[in-house]
Amino acid sequence: MLNKFASSISALLDIRAQGHSLPAGLYVRDDVFEADLDVFFSRHWVYAGLECEVPEAGDAVVLDIGKISVIILRDDDNEIRVVRNVCRHRGSRILDAGSTVISKLVCPYHQWTYELTGELAYAPHMGKDFDKSCRGLKPVHFRSIGGLIYICLADTPPEDIDNLEAVMLPRLAPYDIRNAKVAHQVDVIEEGNWKLTMENNRECYHCSANHPELCVSFVDLDFGFDPDSLSAEDREQAEAHFAMYAERTERWEADGFPSATVEQVRNCETNFRTQRLIIAGAGESQTEDATAASSKLLGQMTRKDLGDVHLWGHNSWNHFMGDHAVTSMVIPLSADKTLVRTKWLVHKDAVEGVDYDLHKLTHVWIETTNQDAELVARSHAGVMDPAYEPGVYSPFSERALDDFATWYVDRMRAHGY
Ligand code: FES
Ligand SMILES: [Fe+2]
Repeated sequence: MLNKFASSISALLDIRAQGHSLPAGLYVRDDVFEADLDVFFSRHWVYAGLECEVPEAGDAVVLDIGKISVIILRDDDNEIRVVRNVCRHRGSRILDAGSTVISKLVCPYHQWTYELTGELAYAPHMGKDFDKSCRGLKPVHFRSIGGLIYICLADTPPEDIDNLEAVMLPRLAPYDIRNAKVAHQVDVIEEGNWKLTMENNRECYHCSANHPELCVSFVDLDFGFDPDSLSAEDREQAEAHFAMYAERTERWEADGFPSATVEQVRNCETNFRTQRLIIAGAGESQTEDATAASSKLLGQMTRKDLGDVHLWGHNSWNHFMGDHAVTSMVIPLSADKTLVRTKWLVHKDAVEGVDYDLHKLTHVWIETTNQDAELVARSHAGVMDPAYEPGVYSPFSERALDDFATWYVDRMRAHGY
């Protein structure tokens, strides 16, 4: 057996078996963590934030990913810009991580000053022949898809984000996420590798035993199940659910709301999956009683019965419902620490205490995220133990994990590992 600490990354990729979780070293080693940052967080499209986080000219959000820091901002022409947070003088960070409001980007070290476009406007004591025109802040490739900002740090970003854009633009349009606002944000640092965070999110095998709040509105059957392991009563319920699902999907599609599952998860660069899910019970929203949390609906929505547009990426999961949306971004911090940043979005004119109650809006996903953090920590601790060996995925409930692990290995290979 390969020593998980002594073998090369390539050898670890070699021994990953189809249908099984990854070899331990791929989850726990520091060199793999560095490789992951390079491959999955520099060379692929990464979900990085929202246009509505920077609604006005001068609003900026700084996001750190490993050694890289980027500034997402809105310039004076109300255009989104994304630039590297590295001064072109001697490299100082210009802004700290987090949100701020600025009229110019001023480097605190020697006051080189940049326009919100990133152009260098002022550089004292550099002499009259100094050429400012070639010393703007480095731009970052970005794509706003219905108000969701994806960035890519590669010189030539993967082109198959076009598919994500083509699929999601019509799905997201009625929710008008550009004109939403962040009603609440929570950062949770999970004590586990980012791939365990993503695996945990891609199955609902664990939902019924761990997520009582979520299961009021979420139907775990939608993420796969073994028909032979259901009791006669459960089988009847499952059949009723899938009949309703087929009927609703057909009706939603007929009403002009794309709903069918679309996935690009293998043999691709940009990994995504979307599906309009049924909301159980009252059917409106992911709240404690499945009724809407905000009486002012998102965008142009007039209906609360359009389910949940679910969208996955390799570092995100999102739920768009009539009254609100929940969007989660995953950023690896170290081999065994992962930031999960969750934002709750409502219509920009919705007023807390009048149109929505913050507790009702946030309760389900605060609880669910905390429960998931606990599961990921347990998972990472077990993978660190010498007794761990790659486990078999359920062919029913964990098919998406096999897709993810396969995509992970393929993309590592494609980038020379
Ligand atoms: S490093 Fe930014 S002004 Fe000198
Ligand atoms: Fe979960």
